[in-house]
Amino acid sequence: MSILSKIKDFFARKSVAKAGGGEKAIEKQKAMGKLPCRDRIEILLDKNSFFEYDLFIAHKCTDFNMDKKQLYADGVVTGTGTINGNPICVFAQDFTVAGGSLGLMHARKITKLMDHSLKLGVPLIGINDSGGARIQEGVNSLAGYGEIFFRNTLASGVVPQISVILGPCAGGAVYSPALTDFVFVVDKISKMFITGPEVIKTVLGEEISMEDLGGASVHTEISGNAHFFAKDEYECFEQIKTLLSYLPQSNTKKAKAIEPRPPKVNFDVEKIIPSDAKKPYDIRDVIRSIFDNSDFLEVQERWASNIVVGFARLHGETVGIVGNQPLVLAGVLDVDSSDKAARFIRFCDSFNIPLVTLVDLPGYLPGVDQEHAGVIRHGAKVLYSYSEATVPKLTIILRKAYGGGYIAMCSRHLGADFVFAWPTAEIAVMGPEGAANIIFRAEITGSSNPDETRKQKVQEYIEKFSNPYVAAENGHIDAVIEPSETRAALIHSLRLAANKKEVRQFKKHGIPPF
Ligand code: HXC
Repeated sequence: MSILSKIKDFFARKSVAKAGGGEKAIEKQKAMGKLPCRDRIEILLDKNSFFEYDLFIAHKCTDFNMDKKQLYADGVVTGTGTINGNPICVFAQDFTVAGGSLGLMHARKITKLMDHSLKLGVPLIGINDSGGARIQEGVNSLAGYGEIFFRNTLASGVVPQISVILGPCAGGAVYSPALTDFVFVVDKISKMFITGPEVIKTVLGEEISMEDLGGASVHTEISGNAHFFAKDEYECFEQIKTLLSYLPQSNTKKAKAIEPRPPKVNFDVEKIIPSDAKKPYDIRDVIRSIFDNSDFLEVQERWASNIVVGFARLHGETVGIVGNQPLVLAGVLDVDSSDKAARFIRFCDSFNIPLVTLVDLPGYLPGVDQEHAGVIRHGAKVLYSYSEATVPKLTIILRKAYGGGYIAMCSRHLGADFVFAWPTAEIAVMGPEGAANIIFRAEITGSSNPDETRKQKVQEYIEKFSNPYVAAENGHIDAVIEPSETRAALIHSLRLAANKKEVRQFKKHGIPPF
């Protein structure tokens, strides 16, 4: 073969392999409102930056007439490129090839990429559009997923791992994302379940649509399995770029700082907390009034919204924010909000992102449902993750900080480096009504006018304890500051903590209350 013919042959092979399941299948993919997998990579990455690996991989399965089937690229496109100018590793499953199902060679393409990501310290993005383990390959496809899960775990806390769900994803195609740091879903397109509706019908005799079983809303609002919701794929890719702009490439780096910008003038921190201590407000307004350019990238916005977590910048540096949300359930900690906060704290700690905690909560949510759902175990995750975190930890107590909630929300006692309180702070074992009813019970019930006595005792308690000064007298907080001083106090503290090093006792790993 002449050189020219060899080159022509190469182009012909390349063009066939890149066509995936062929034109008809690609048209079907588009008709479902989904972008073809190569378009997804092109839109997500910086222009012309994608470098593909393993285009000519071929499956080895001979059962079920599979030897007669060409599965181009084995149903997954893998390679490297850049986003915001920074290197990334990316794979995108191709639903037009055997439903994006994962056979052994498909898995090997992904694990090769994961090994690169881990060794080279580069974030990994997986675009999942797959029916899970390829049924025809039997245990070989299970082996493939096992090898992926193993690497997801090795990479956890070393490089950021991002999963995008862009199709009906079952089995391993959702368990690998569950091991990664952030899961992105798109309205009407994303479906996640361990087993699809057909299996459910066979096994349980129940009929359910894919959307109701595991659509984008289910996983961003009910299960908490997904972290970001987008209306379409384009918005989803923009969200990923924004998220990556806040993150370091790996756990040995710090996120790149950008030009500092003051918050926008329309957010006035002095005017957010209502004068009536029982009235709610939106903690996100406080965040926007303190951090750079009033930008806030909220994580898991639609789930457990009694706590707010996400990324912002303080004088150009990425920080992770955890704040109670008085608008929802008065900002209590419960099973789900504890899980949400604890996981976010551990992510920030792994990737050298300082934590800023904004406190306003009446405590942990009481009640049979919560107790039976394991609020003790789940709530303990917040205690564990804050105590374990060695990144700079800055805490502001805005209003209520009662009981276990006071301790849990990054108090000095869990290792906060700086704790500030606003003059509106109320730091006590519990709210005044509950406290007065217990400690003054005899006086209230023995009184000729119990209601009046209760009111007096509540007032007495408020005057004595519903303020920041008892904590200040005991050194549990560092300073009482005006709300308008908050940004400056945080910037000052963050600068002081820039080289923080905290060495702990050696251990293989801790045993968090999973
Ligand atoms: C082989 C598969 C496949 C699979 C889909 N296909 N899933 N082939 N193995 N797992 C093929 C179909 O045969 C079909 O091929 C094409 O992909 C498109 O699938 P459809 O069913 O036509 O599409 P749709 O109606 O959109 O339904 C998508 C689906 C459904 C919900 C994903 O296909 C489904 O339920 N698949 C099985 C899901 C599953 O139970 N997977 C195993 C999980 S176990 P043709 O040739 O007709 O176009 C697992 C192990 C890991 O993953 C365990 C983790 C702990």
